[in-house]
Amino acid sequence: MLNRKLSRRSAIKAGAVTTGLVGGAGLAAPLLAPAAAADTVAAAVSATTPMFAVPLTVPPVLRPTAVSATTDYYSVTMKKAVKEIIPGLQSEVHTYNGEFPGPTIKARSGRRVVVTQTNELDMPASVHLHGAEVPMDSDGSPMNTIAPGGTKTYTYPNNQPGSPLWLHDHAHHAESEHVYRGLQAMYLLSDENDRAQPLPSGAYDIPLVIRDVQIDTTGQLVYTMGDFNNRTTILVNGRPWPFLQVAARQYRFRILNASSLRFFVFGLSDGGSFTQIGSDGGLLEKPYTTSTLKLSPGERADIVVDFSRYETGTKIVLQNANGPGPADLIGKIMRFDVVREARDFSYVPSRLRTLPTPEIATVNRTFVLRMEDDGRPNPNAYINDQLYDPDRIDTEIAWGSTEVWTVTNANVKAPHNFHVHLVQFRVLERNGKAPDPSEQGLKDTVAVLPGETVKIQMTFDSYRGTYLYHCHMFDHGAMGMMGTMRIS
Ligand code: C2O
Ligand code: CU
Ligand code: CU
Repeated sequence: MLNRKLSRRSAIKAGAVTTGLVGGAGLAAPLLAPAAAADTVAAAVSATTPMFAVPLTVPPVLRPTAVSATTDYYSVTMKKAVKEIIPGLQSEVHTYNGEFPGPTIKARSGRRVVVTQTNELDMPASVHLHGAEVPMDSDGSPMNTIAPGGTKTYTYPNNQPGSPLWLHDHAHHAESEHVYRGLQAMYLLSDENDRAQPLPSGAYDIPLVIRDVQIDTTGQLVYTMGDFNNRTTILVNGRPWPFLQVAARQYRFRILNASSLRFFVFGLSDGGSFTQIGSDGGLLEKPYTTSTLKLSPGERADIVVDFSRYETGTKIVLQNANGPGPADLIGKIMRFDVVREARDFSYVPSRLRTLPTPEIATVNRTFVLRMEDDGRPNPNAYINDQLYDPDRIDTEIAWGSTEVWTVTNANVKAPHNFHVHLVQFRVLERNGKAPDPSEQGLKDTVAVLPGETVKIQMTFDSYRGTYLYHCHMFDHGAMGMMGTMRIS
């Protein structure tokens, strides 16, 4: 692997973060202990990639291969492909159907989706639908893999409210690298209430899959487990720091943090506000006006930005205020160029949805997340002092029960987050207080920063079987921070 020092732009040494970058964001940095060999910054192409030089593209919507009265059938092939991510360089990536990121599946609540996956990669793969209530055999668990050359059919009942779900790899110890190299796609589930909203739609409703990556000067994606510092190229829908020409009207953006380790704190370069209308589990009850949006890995947010307040010709940068990394690289995400006037009949209603009243919880559990974050190579990461063991059941749950889980991050440096398969939960408390409005909807992934304690509540009344919960910093999951629950 190349390990030269960067010559252009200041390569911040591992562990150090540009001053002011983290400021009022409320997240401490560095968020993770430096990776092994962190005294040098590997040669990356990020320093020489021009910003806002390529247009944003949107992943294609996948077409069903067959449609019945109840079900849409899809077929997906996992395979390697070569893409021009950085202009002029060819990158080998892992893909669903040759797309980077994968094609979007659009599904409707109450209609089943069946996806036949064929693995043409040379490694076992497993496909998980993040945020979805699915039968155990279709959950894409780490050991339930598709061998190279094999095929598996996954059934998604979609018996849940509309929500921005995420299809991604989950093969044991390989998920982190697989997702990094491209095995991920949006899965947008909508229900009747969603479709009746007067929100921006069609060309004004755009998914933004945002992630970091390290690309070397030959164009290759460099994956080093736990490397928080050298992933300094930002991709949106697979394009480096793209621009999007917008009309002076409202747009809806469905944002996914598809990074393995990076926590983003988004904002607009003019400090302007926007409206958050949804999160992991779909629409919030009420819209929430804010000028910052925090997203940890795997979290989603649905926002509306009103560009009508800008003159034609204005350029607004979507920024990230959270380290680690040089602010002139990871501090910028993409640019919106306001290029024309447009009529706009969309609006954000004052009430978006009514969430079900949570049941009374009868079971309380405690989960302590802790990893070795002193900078040692190959650190272990634990839940309740145990490393993940796919053959062990950590949590036995009685079907139908409603539980409160208290999740604590025992680290002083490393951030974590917490994701539970199969269910959407409510965040009851963050450090003893009510969570921000952005966390008051249905969630499946929640940030747990160093020293923080988060309480979540959920009801296990759908499928029985063995499922996972884990830190969604994929590298931490692969280091052991994953547990199994059995609902029976
Ligand atoms: Cu995004 Cu185990 O999940
Ligand atoms: Cu999941
Ligand atoms: Cu973690």
